[in-house]
Amino acid sequence: MAASSTLVYHHLPFFFLVFLLHAQPCPAAGGSWSTLLPSIGISAMHMQLLPNDRVVMYDRTDFGISNISLPNGKCRPNTTDCSAHSVEYDVASNTVRPLMVLSNVWCSSGTLMPDGRLVQTGGFDDGYRVVRIYKSCDSCDWQEIRDGLNQQRWYATNHILPDGKQIIIGGRRAFSYEFFPKISTNENTPSFPFLAQTNDPNAENNLYPFVFLYPDGNLFIFANNRAILFDYSKNQVIKTYPTIPGGQPRNYPSTGSAVLLPLRMTQGTVAAVEVLVCGGAPKGAFVNANKGIFDGALDTCGRIKISDPNPQWAMETMPSARVMGDMLLLPNGHVLIINGVSAGVAGWELGRNPVLSPVVYHPDKQVGSRFEVQNPSTIPRVYHSTAVLLRDGRVLVGGSNAHDKYEFTNVLYPTELSLEAFSPSYLDSNSSEFRPTIILPVKNTRIGYGKQVVVVFTVSGIVDPSSVSVTMVAPSFNTHSFSMNQRLIVLDGSPASKIIGRSRYQVVVTTPPSGNVAPAGNYILYLVHKDIPSPGIWVQMQ
Ligand SMILES: *[C@@H]1O[C@H](CO)[C@@H](O)[C@H](O)[C@H]1NC(C)=O
Ligand SMILES: *[C@@H]1O[C@H](CO)[C@@H](O)[C@H](O)[C@H]1NC(C)=O
Ligand SMILES: *[C@@H]1O[C@H](CO)[C@@H](O)[C@H](O)[C@H]1NC(C)=O
Repeated sequence: MAASSTLVYHHLPFFFLVFLLHAQPCPAAGGSWSTLLPSIGISAMHMQLLPNDRVVMYDRTDFGISNISLPNGKCRPNTTDCSAHSVEYDVASNTVRPLMVLSNVWCSSGTLMPDGRLVQTGGFDDGYRVVRIYKSCDSCDWQEIRDGLNQQRWYATNHILPDGKQIIIGGRRAFSYEFFPKISTNENTPSFPFLAQTNDPNAENNLYPFVFLYPDGNLFIFANNRAILFDYSKNQVIKTYPTIPGGQPRNYPSTGSAVLLPLRMTQGTVAAVEVLVCGGAPKGAFVNANKGIFDGALDTCGRIKISDPNPQWAMETMPSARVMGDMLLLPNGHVLIINGVSAGVAGWELGRNPVLSPVVYHPDKQVGSRFEVQNPSTIPRVYHSTAVLLRDGRVLVGGSNAHDKYEFTNVLYPTELSLEAFSPSYLDSNSSEFRPTIILPVKNTRIGYGKQVVVVFTVSGIVDPSSVSVTMVAPSFNTHSFSMNQRLIVLDGSPASKIIGRSRYQVVVTTPPSGNVAPAGNYILYLVHKDIPSPGIWVQMQ
């Protein structure tokens, strides 16, 4: 084949050959990849960025011996496993420190609490009902609450609530929800029939439901192929949205992903609330994959304005099909779709054809020109891969293990212990003259609701005052291609103005009006100029 295609090229005029070599199926590739660490010792199945720029990661305790030892010759109690299954990655020093999880954290979920602790829930086997708390410091480790949950939670979704508690929704064969901390010691576990209704007996397909806090305090919950608006305090469905066109499943094991598109504040309100769901695997794909037939993944996204009185899905086609893709909100409000494969489903040995090129989705461009294919990685990130946004605007990518034990050789997709960073094109060196730096507020500033904040920044090149905005991003908990608590708010603000006599600029912005729009806790504040974000700074909403 190679010889005959070479022959064909030889018969073409030279300029046509050049054209062929440069022809791209999609416009303007961008972004760049770098390997941060070839091995962190574990496969990063779950990741959470913490407000001190460290990232907690963990895999499983029933997974064999990892490639990193517990410190000081420690072993997990009552086992012969002296290896770590959790690490803390420090972005600044690019190093990892091993941590000890006691019970099985496999396919669990979590939320960063308003005080900056990670509270993580459930898992498998001896971890089904465990709540684990991680407070970051140089020598901190996991604390476990044995019977912290009322129900077993394996593949559940968590979300932070306006009152500072977290809700834990669903999980395998758990058609209910509960809270942490508990509302009362004898709190019951409200049943949640929507999860029973969306549970496909052959494939489940409603695990790790997509959950977003709607700015009126209710929850938008998408499972399988449809969604509701839900009042968890009254256990009441407020609204039922139409089934996504085509009716194909989008949740684990037909793992697509979803984001709440940027919440743009205008005069103290959010003008439009929109959700974007992308990828997944068709009905029957899970049963087929278990028989060795790997169906092509879905190549569609559905976008719905859930704040419309009569919301309807609008469908769009991605440049390539994808299952197990992660969707991340970038600081400038664009959506990155990264990781995953184009055939099969989530689960051991069930995915095929890695998709190595991320895609950037521009929510504000015209339909038909919203997707932009990015430069590819060389490392397949299949089942159990992860991605989180870092404060500096890079995207941390880790994990991938297609097998039920660590498998490094003689397999189609070896277990990945490496960490990479994807740098979106806004970090290209030719953007540096437009890249802002925030001077004020200083890091860890506490900000209240509905307050005016002066953001002072510098830019080395010429500032275009009409293309300046201030965004706030909540750090999310990422696993199984979904980022829990992911949220980006575009603050209402004045146009940028030059501070007289200084090479500095300022914008005055109004902070979100309530915890329904921005639950209390840590956010990364960015100044965005011409779609190029500054390095972020941590602020605390309270
Ligand atoms: C395990 O870690 C060692 C260094 O500690 C490294 O040389 C080796 O490549 C790692 N193994 C894998 C599979 O990454
Ligand atoms: C280890 O086993 C002992 C004795 O069975 C038990 O009391 C203890 O709780 C176990 N520890 C853990 C962490 O499971
Ligand atoms: C930087 O270069 C890339 C590739 O040539 C281009 O697409 C992008 O628009 C440039 N960015 C700026 C800010 O000029």
